[in-house]
Amino acid sequence: EKDIVILAIESSCDETAAAVVKNGREVLSNIISSQIALHTLYGGVVPEIASRKHIEKINQVIEEALKQANMTLDEIDAIGVTYGPGLVGALLVGVAEAKAIAYAAKKPLIGVHHIEGHISANYIENKDLEPPFACLVVSGGHTHLVVVEDYGKYKILGRTRDDAAGEAFDKVARAIGLGYPGGPKIDKLSKEGNPEAITFPRAHIAESVYDFSFSGLKSAVLNYLNGAKMKGEEIVAADVAASFQKAVTDVLVEHAMMAVKEYGFDKLAIAGGVASNSTLRREMELACEKNNVKFYHPSPILCTDNAAMIGAAAYYEYLAGTRHGLDLNAIPNLKL
Ligand code: KG4
Ligand code: ZN
Repeated sequence: EKDIVILAIESSCDETAAAVVKNGREVLSNIISSQIALHTLYGGVVPEIASRKHIEKINQVIEEALKQANMTLDEIDAIGVTYGPGLVGALLVGVAEAKAIAYAAKKPLIGVHHIEGHISANYIENKDLEPPFACLVVSGGHTHLVVVEDYGKYKILGRTRDDAAGEAFDKVARAIGLGYPGGPKIDKLSKEGNPEAITFPRAHIAESVYDFSFSGLKSAVLNYLNGAKMKGEEIVAADVAASFQKAVTDVLVEHAMMAVKEYGFDKLAIAGGVASNSTLRREMELACEKNNVKFYHPSPILCTDNAAMIGAAAYYEYLAGTRHGLDLNAIPNLKL
């Protein structure tokens, strides 16, 4: 059989990324130009700045991806690009670029859902992973518990009612003075803290057991910090971080285990930026072992935004016959 090589582009938030992926699972190159340092100055992603930076970087990033893969555009079978969800001005840069390349090089264009990309990151290093399986997608913008019924076929069991898990990490990090992005900083600081030091709430939604809510937890942390300040009590940031992280992890693990038991899955994957959290990975691994479930997760570099995962997803869309026209548009609230 002929190899299928995809040039993938991702620009939905604050990483300008391009990758070349062979047969959905072999990464020939994976270039990421992160804007994090720039947005850190503002304490979060500034959409206008993100778009401008994508425009500055995207050609360079794509050229580098082709060069490292030792490929010319001629040898590429299709162009894959994230077209939603995300920041509209950021998405538009990648979509316009992908359309221009597809048109000029006469290659098929495949629009990819960003979450489908995160899920597909698991295929890259786990050659044995095939649907059906359950996947917990936890990123800065999304918290979804998904059944991957087949390639490109998803059923959402639960989602967050308010803040995404990563968003909660970022907000709590800001409150304890750690800066943006908070997830990795809380992860690191937590190693010096006691996760049992403070009891923060674990939210459960009675009418929809697979849904999540993290805004109450975030408020509880803020209230704790304010209360301690008013009473003149010492705040141990590492204990706050560890206790918060444990509260998030407990809920994520509990929901995922509930799903694998009810649906009888023997495979669970995690995806998205928060999936690189060390406590979440450890606790999920332990819970999976206990329940005889095989646990899958991408390397940290494939958890946070990248284009290799978009190339993996685009490959299966390519096989399924998905093709987009040059009228492909960015859809900021695209549904899975
Ligand atoms: O998947 P991603 O790069 O972008 C979105 O699609 O949202 O996820 C970024 C999010 C941020 O909220 C960041 O704080 C969080 O992932 N994150 C982490 C860790 N690394 C990144 N959260 C917890 N622990 C980490 N180690
Ligand atoms: Zn993402």
